[in-house]
Amino acid sequence: GWIGLPLYQYQGSWCHAKGIEAALSLQNHFHACDSDVILVTTPKSGTTWLKALAFAILYRHKYTFSQNPLLTDNPHDLVPFFEFKLYANNQLPNLSDLPSPRLFATHIPYSWLPESINNSKCKIVYLCRNPRDTLVSYWHFTNKARPEALGPLSLENGLDLFCKGITGFGPFWDHALGYWNKNLERPQKVLFLKYEDLKKDIKYQLKRLAEFMGCPFTMEEEKNGVIDEISRLCSFQRLSSLEVNKSGKSIDYFENRTLFRKGEVGDWMNYLTSPMVEQLDEVMEEKLSGSGLTFDMYP
Ligand code: PPS
Repeated sequence: GWIGLPLYQYQGSWCHAKGIEAALSLQNHFHACDSDVILVTTPKSGTTWLKALAFAILYRHKYTFSQNPLLTDNPHDLVPFFEFKLYANNQLPNLSDLPSPRLFATHIPYSWLPESINNSKCKIVYLCRNPRDTLVSYWHFTNKARPEALGPLSLENGLDLFCKGITGFGPFWDHALGYWNKNLERPQKVLFLKYEDLKKDIKYQLKRLAEFMGCPFTMEEEKNGVIDEISRLCSFQRLSSLEVNKSGKSIDYFENRTLFRKGEVGDWMNYLTSPMVEQLDEVMEEKLSGSGLTFDMYP
């Protein structure tokens, strides 16, 4: 495995035992409200960034700039994961203290989400990242999070696992396609974003995101630089330099510093050889062909 937690296959997806337990508990106990917003990603595709952006947009009228919790807190402490926090370890969360509208995050595949998410008017924002960079990021993260006794995981082995679909909440392609297809079917329910597009034109993507979440930026806000302010507040530079992100712990198993590395598009070029790219592309082409889902690989 990757970080020493065994992954199990459940209804077609791979997950550690605690994650599956949490997903079942979520299915049994969570009741979505129409105003909820749920952020979904595969691991290492920009979760931390999306949490910061959605939080900044959704709650922008709650705080003055200098009081914004994003200036001091890790985004994972502000937007809880269903499976790592709220429903982890057989607890049932008290959700009544959460600000409204409620903002949640998850890595859970579409087919594992509770019925009430599907049936309510709540919104789902999916963020996807090109598989080459996702793999490289996942591999780096793995070697930081892995118990020393296991020794490092080679990139070759990581690539093999990734291509077999064996990653947390994988296969990567099933995860992405689950939400991609829902977006095609119900665009007002699921917004599909790409990490590469956020890097390329953050302003435009933030406008899309705000509009989708039901709180579009006004002309006034745009003129006053609110969108730029939000993108700066959530930038890699900014978030990774916070003291809490150099030392603290926000998710059960991981140190905050493992969440920030480079934050770029195309870093795969520094790691994947041509045969490796071929191996990955072959699987991706096979799995994604005909879906309409494609990725930008270069900055
Ligand atoms: S996790 O554990 O699933 O929540 O990790 P996740 O946040 O999804 O992925 C970590 C990668 O995202 C990069 N990152 C960012 N990129 C751009 N902007 C911001 N603000 C940002 N914050 C985190 C992080 O560096 C990891 O990517 P790599 O390529 O490894 O640098």
